[in-house]
Amino acid sequence: MAQLRLVSGSVGLITLQNPPVNALSAAVRQGIVDAVETALSDPKVKCVVICGQNGVFCGGADIKEFGTNITGPHLIPMIHAIEATNKPMVAAIEGSALGGGLEVALGCHYRVAHSKARLGLPEVTLGLLPAAAGSQRLPRLIGVPAALNLITTGRHVTAAEALQLGLVDQVTDRNTVDAAVKFALSVVGQSLDARRISTFPCPRPAELDALFEDAMQKVRQSARGAIAPVACVQAVRAAATLPYAEGLERERELMATLFNSGQARALQYCFFAQRAVGRWSTPSGARWDTSKTLPVRKAAVIGLGTMGRGIAVALAQTGLSVVAVETQEKQMMEAKQAVSGMLERGAKRSGVAPVFDRISYSGNIRAVADVDLVIEAVFEDMALKEKVFQQLSAVCKPGVLLCTNTSALDVDHLASQTPNPELVVGMHFFAPAHVMKLLEVVYGRGSSPQAVATAMQLGKKMGKVSVAVGNCRGFVGNRMLKPYIEQAFYLLEEGATPELVDGALEEFGFSMGIFRMSDLSGLDVGWRVRKGDGLVDPGSASGPSARVRQGRRYSPLGDLLCEQGRFGQKTGRGWYQYEKPGGRVARSDPWLHSFLEGYRARHGLVARRIDHQEVLERCLYALINEGFHILEDGIAAGPEDIDVIYVFGYGWPRHRGGPMFYAGMVGLPKVLERLEHYHQAHPDVPHLKPCSLLRRLVASGSPPIHKWREVIKKLHSQL
Ligand code: COA
Ligand code: ADP
Repeated sequence: MAQLRLVSGSVGLITLQNPPVNALSAAVRQGIVDAVETALSDPKVKCVVICGQNGVFCGGADIKEFGTNITGPHLIPMIHAIEATNKPMVAAIEGSALGGGLEVALGCHYRVAHSKARLGLPEVTLGLLPAAAGSQRLPRLIGVPAALNLITTGRHVTAAEALQLGLVDQVTDRNTVDAAVKFALSVVGQSLDARRISTFPCPRPAELDALFEDAMQKVRQSARGAIAPVACVQAVRAAATLPYAEGLERERELMATLFNSGQARALQYCFFAQRAVGRWSTPSGARWDTSKTLPVRKAAVIGLGTMGRGIAVALAQTGLSVVAVETQEKQMMEAKQAVSGMLERGAKRSGVAPVFDRISYSGNIRAVADVDLVIEAVFEDMALKEKVFQQLSAVCKPGVLLCTNTSALDVDHLASQTPNPELVVGMHFFAPAHVMKLLEVVYGRGSSPQAVATAMQLGKKMGKVSVAVGNCRGFVGNRMLKPYIEQAFYLLEEGATPELVDGALEEFGFSMGIFRMSDLSGLDVGWRVRKGDGLVDPGSASGPSARVRQGRRYSPLGDLLCEQGRFGQKTGRGWYQYEKPGGRVARSDPWLHSFLEGYRARHGLVARRIDHQEVLERCLYALINEGFHILEDGIAAGPEDIDVIYVFGYGWPRHRGGPMFYAGMVGLPKVLERLEHYHQAHPDVPHLKPCSLLRRLVASGSPPIHKWREVIKKLHSQL
């Protein structure tokens, strides 16, 4: 809806009304059309201000309408009608002016923004382009390079940057509508000829071709197969090279391709999935977000390794006082230096003073006596963690929330070491913890809703995408990673190379293939875990038992590399070679190739040709199959939770929506059929055996992903 009223005697004030973000639904568009018409025909109205209710101008097109039968007036003629009027139109921008919202503002003759407002054309993040003439008007207003940047990245700019770019005409710290009304009255009577952006010639930068080639190359590199950024460059090119009407036609054609694409569907799914996981429900439907949270002003981090340092920085940057405890002096010295560096760099980026004094350091765990919450990040060793939790129970004040940053260990077992298991949860951060957006909040059997809500709330305050998950080995992300890595190892045994496997995964859209990723995070991490699980057996380098452990197929390839001291980037050698220890550029290593040949010869394995499709099917379907197990076991509340974890924590390409969404796109019957095929070929690999939930979904007609929860619920009720 949109409401029109007369203010200050001669200003028609149109207020968009569609909570929470005044998205441009059919009713809102109709409301604007009607209000503009009425304002124009009313002789009392000399000028018009458009604003949004509740402090938000407009969050853009109504994304919920996409994929439905869209009715109501179209945006393009509506915006043209606004631009064509002879009464000054002023947009009063508070909160957000995004997508279609900004396109409406670009149709106005003037824009006044509040200093805290954010403006942008984020359509590209939804697999689209600004197709209500945004791609044609923006370059005409702020120039081609700046428009290319905004449209291809979808980034939101502050009011100050918008003013600098010429995107808005005035910024105010006060009441935006009052300022816009005053502004509108001040321009009544002035000619509007020079204010209609669609009539501007588009500035033609020198070296136009080179500029666009460069832009295209950049987006192709960073888009990893996403088509919308490429279409955005093409649309802006049309603005720069064609008359407005023809550019608009090109914009329409490009949008038609994007609008029904699978990528757009995947990206829009991600948008809603991210918000759905924020509502924090468990598989049984219990919700955390209605629980009262515990107040957290002061927190402690125990252990200042890579993770502890990042967590301490993230907490301090959120505004908390932090006590950082580290028992080893040398580590403490290094950590202090590293933390200061991170705080300094963070401050430089955000333009605020570094918050060194928010963190105090101690070598004694007693220093945590007065904190409200503790995050333990000591070595991944259960006996050590048990001891730390016992100590914490003794020294902390009553009611403190005890969190563990374990990436796989049993949260219930740790909780049992304390007198208050209801106050224990996992907070599984991803390295580097002050940068990575994902946080898995692990609820144990006894964790109280209040404890989970507090951890979720803290994650949110830290700017993380927090996902509540159940307690099991590896939780969601790392549990699914195991079968994925396992398949990659088997593929090497069967004839592939790290380059081939990574090539297939990177072409699919992963930022890094599994072997490059493993070199980056360190091969020794998995080695330590496998040793702990009793899987590493240096005595069985050859013979039939070498490739079998605990009755299943096992590949010792990773262990063999570690035995050679090849831990990845940090040692300059891993699955690839690097120019020096700590080097970042992976190069093929002939040693590794002959090592693989020798290994195959020793084990009587004959290398065969493996293509990209097999790499993708084996690695990804094994990972997806584990995802179904996780849903079946009730560890994740729904497929959205798994997908958000993979997109934000594991480099899964967002335009493919996450592993479970991708399974739906491929078609569940096909995923099932391929898993059956590979399981038949590799009966000693249990991870390839199709999960019964997948079978059940296929048997129920492969419902769309938003209906999976119903099938899962039915399954649980029958157990
Ligand atoms: N269409 C439909 N619903 C929208 C929407 C849109 N354009 N923008 C936001 N919403 C919904 C969200 O789904 C959420 O619904 P929920 O409460 O049922 O989960 C609610 O509005 C609030 O959004 P949220 O993102 O949680 O609020 P916020 O205050 O953190 O952020 C925005 C507000 C506008 C910055 C953010 O929602 C956003 O970026 N929206 C999308 C903008 C966009 O891409 N527009 C272009 C469309 S082509
Ligand atoms: P990461 O996985 O984060 O790199 P590490 O496991 O390497 O972390 O580091 C854990 C840190 O925890 C080490 O610096 C170690 O000295 C520290 N640590 C171990 N035990 C304790 C303890 N009881 N109290 C405080 N710090 C500890």
